Amino acid sequence: MAVASAPANDAKANEFLSTTRKLLINGEWVDAASGKTFGVLNPATGEEIARVAEGAEEDINRAVIAARQAFESGPWKDMLPNARMKMIMKLAQLISDNAQTFSELETLDNGKALSISSAVDIPLAIDIFEYMAGWATKLEGRTLRLSSPGYHAYTLLEPVGVIGQIIPWNFPLLMAAWKLAPALATGNTVILKPAEQTPLTALLLGEMIQEAGFPAGVVNVVPGFGETAGAALSGHMDVDKVAFTGSTEVGKLITQAATGNLKKVSLELGGKAPNIVFADADLEAATAGAGLGIFFNQGQVCCAGSRLYVEKSAYDTVVGGLTDVAANITLAPGMDPACDMGPLVSEEQYEKVTSMVAGGLSDGASAAVGGGRKEGAGYFYKPTILEGTNPNMEVIREEIFGPVVAAIPFEDPNDIVKAANDTPFGLSAGIWSRDVSKAHKMAEAMRAGTVWVNCYNVFDSSLPFGGYKQSGWGREMGADVLELYTETKAVCIHVG
Ligand code: NAI
Ligand code: MG
Repeated sequence: MAVASAPANDAKANEFLSTTRKLLINGEWVDAASGKTFGVLNPATGEEIARVAEGAEEDINRAVIAARQAFESGPWKDMLPNARMKMIMKLAQLISDNAQTFSELETLDNGKALSISSAVDIPLAIDIFEYMAGWATKLEGRTLRLSSPGYHAYTLLEPVGVIGQIIPWNFPLLMAAWKLAPALATGNTVILKPAEQTPLTALLLGEMIQEAGFPAGVVNVVPGFGETAGAALSGHMDVDKVAFTGSTEVGKLITQAATGNLKKVSLELGGKAPNIVFADADLEAATAGAGLGIFFNQGQVCCAGSRLYVEKSAYDTVVGGLTDVAANITLAPGMDPACDMGPLVSEEQYEKVTSMVAGGLSDGASAAVGGGRKEGAGYFYKPTILEGTNPNMEVIREEIFGPVVAAIPFEDPNDIVKAANDTPFGLSAGIWSRDVSKAHKMAEAMRAGTVWVNCYNVFDSSLPFGGYKQSGWGREMGADVLELYTETKAVCIHVG
C-alpha cells in the first residue's frame, strides 16, 4: 500500500494526518482496547493518508459509561441553557477558525472537490451548530388545563439521555453536525461513530469539542467498522437512543439491534427521488437543476434526483442539455482546482455503481453519456444518463448512489404522480413548472419528506429533512429535530 506524504496544502491538515489518530473517550484521546488501527485511503489515488485507532465493542462500552456518567452527574447535567448555547457557539467558531483544515481533510478523505467541501460541507456544519445553539435557550413546555378541577399541570422537555450516532461517509462532518448539534442543544450526551471510510473530520471535530470546553464524556468519538463498533452501539443496553444515516439495509439491522432495551431509533436512509420537469418550466433552469440534482457530490446523496421524468415535448431539450452538462464535467482529484467531480468514496462503492449500471445496460437500457469508469488511478465514475429503462429495472427501483440518472419521458401529466410515487423510498422529489397551481398540487401529491419546486438540493438548518416510507423515521434539522432528542414529561399537581 502506497502511503502519501503531506497530501494537503494546509500545514495543519498535514500535521493532523502525520500521527495515528486516537479515540476520544471521556475527554481523553486513547488507543483502542485491542490496540488495532486501520488505514484511511484517499479515493482519488487509493493511497493511505492516515491511520486511525479502530474502536470496537470494548471501546464502545467505555464510551457509553463515560456518556452515562456525564449525563447523570457533573457539570453538563447542571449547565444552564445559556451556557450550553455559548459552548455550542464556541464550537461553531472553532470550526470556522479551522475551516481550511476541515475542508482539505474532508476532500482528501471523501474525494469531493475542495470547492464543495469549503463552500457546502463546512459552512453548513457551522450553520447547524449556530442554529441549534439558538434552540438551547428556547425549549419550552406548556401549561395544560385538565378536565377535572383542582390540578395544575404542565410539561417539561428533557433530554433523552445517552445517544449513539452512526454517521455515513457522503457528508462526513455535516452528517455528524446534523446529529450532534441538536443532541447537545437539548442536553444529551453522545457516542459518535463516524463511517470507517471517512473518520478524519469527526476526529478533528473532537479536538474542537475539547477546546470549546465540553465536559469529559459529553461527546465521545469512536471510529470503527459497522459490524463491530456500529453494531455494539446500536445493541448497547445502556444507550437510550440511536440515530443513524446510511443504507436502508443497515437501518433495518439497527432497528432490530435496538429492540433489546427498546431504545429510540431515528433513521435517515436511502432514496430514489423523482425529479419531474413539465414542459411549461424554465427549461434552462430545470436542466441545470437536473444536473445539480444527480451529479452533486458524485451522486452520493440520499436525496439525489435519480429518476428524471420529463414531459415529452421538452424531453430532447432537457436531456440534450443535461448530456452536454455531463460531458463537460471534469473528473479530477478533489484537491485539483480543475475538479468538477471527484472520485466515488471507495472501491466498494465504485464496484457497486459499476455493476448496477452494467446490469441496467444488459437489461436493455442505453447510456446517452457515460456508462462506465474512468480508467486509471482512483475511483472515478463518468457522469451517466440512462435512457430506455422500464419501471421494473433494478436501476429504477434501487438506489445507485453514484452520478447516474435515468431519463424517462412522460406524456400524460395525470400519470406522473403514480410513477413518481412508485418506489419504496420517499425522501425527496423535485418539480419544475411555471404553473403555480400545478406546482402546489404536485408538491402535495408527492409521498416524500422534501419537495423542491424550481430548485433542487437546497438545504437549510431551518428546513426539516427526512423520509416517508423506507427512507427513514423522524426529521433532522429545523424545530422538528427537537422531538428526536427530547422526552416530554407531564407534571400533574393536585392543588385542591
Ligand atoms: P452503510 O449503511 O453500511 O454505512 C453507514 C454507516 O453505518 C457507517 O458508519 C457504517 O459503519 C455503519 N454500519 C454498517 N453496518 C452496521 C451495522 N451492522 N450496525 C451498525 N452500524 C453499521 O452504508 P455503506 O455500506 O457504506 O453504503 C452502501 C449503500 O448505502 C450506498 O451505496 C448507498 O446506497 C447507501 N448509503 C446511503 C446514505 C445516505 O445518506 N442515506 C449514506 C451512505 C450510504
Ligand atoms: Mg455497509
